Amino acid sequence: MSISKKDVIANYLPKRTEAGLKAEAFAPSNIALCKYWGKRDVELNLPINGSLSISLGELGSHTSINESDTGEDQVYLNDELLEPDSKFASKVIRFIELFRRDLDQPITVRTVNNIPTAAGLASSASGFAALTLAVNDFYRFGLKKEHLSAFARMGSGSASRSIYQGFVEWHLGVRTDGMDSCAEPLAAQWPGFRIGLLKVATGEKKIDSRSGMQRTVESAPLYNSWPKQAANDLRVIKEAIKNRDLELLGQTAEQNALSMHATMIGSWPPLLYWQPESVAAMHRLWELRASGVQVYLTMDAGPNLKLIFHSESEAQVRDAFPELMDVDIVAPFG
Ligand code: PMV
Repeated sequence: MSISKKDVIANYLPKRTEAGLKAEAFAPSNIALCKYWGKRDVELNLPINGSLSISLGELGSHTSINESDTGEDQVYLNDELLEPDSKFASKVIRFIELFRRDLDQPITVRTVNNIPTAAGLASSASGFAALTLAVNDFYRFGLKKEHLSAFARMGSGSASRSIYQGFVEWHLGVRTDGMDSCAEPLAAQWPGFRIGLLKVATGEKKIDSRSGMQRTVESAPLYNSWPKQAANDLRVIKEAIKNRDLELLGQTAEQNALSMHATMIGSWPPLLYWQPESVAAMHRLWELRASGVQVYLTMDAGPNLKLIFHSESEAQVRDAFPELMDVDIVAPFG
């Protein structure tokens, strides 16, 4: 039996939540190099495998919380006031309620995502991470980073990693309350390491990652091999980062992503996030690699590609992919 989010969180908060003043926080978006796919506990978003990502520097979510001046909870997304029962607003308020408990203080939450829509990136990771940091500040809880990471995870699994910059590992953990299933930054730095965002298709995806991974766990025979592969990939990727070995990192990350997609395709009903443009871009990338350029791909639960390369190859990568959005992730390492 799973413990509820509310009960887990209550164990780490003061007895009562005191009224808040105002708070502001930022959290970066992140791209997993070893993917999280599948939950062992759906209530707490506890993963079946550990994962590892790179945070995207200044690309992410800015979130502020203030006392509401209308007497009602209000949620703004990119400066637009949302209907209280919209999907986004109700998710945000449900999350806030885990911390506000019986305190009677309506609040206004404003989230601005500076991830250009042209990048084709989801923002739930940075959004829940920034919200968790803002909540901690607003109610002056003064919680430890690893606890904040575990709480952000309850909003969206990948948000646990967005609490930190740089390379970040999200530990599998063993506890039933999940508090050891939190992220930790790696000490490693890698100047020149680049992630390029390649948006090839538009439109909202029909199946979000929450239901996509559940379907895969329940119906894909191929999924049986995933936890073992992911554990091994995680180990190899950590080693590759330590040695700044782009070939080993790129190969392992690309194979990890495509294996995750293979489990999705093998689900029932089948789950194929790729569009014809995604496949065309993959072929373009493989041709470029065959010509001697070290460039690799990764993909999440959507049709877009993320390219992994070193700044030394930037000119060739840009030449082959003029539409690429290159993210400078050197800054957070400094
Ligand atoms: O955290 P969620 O529920 O948005 O799931 C993220 C799933 C992937 O993006 C496909 C993989 C990952 O580790 O980020």
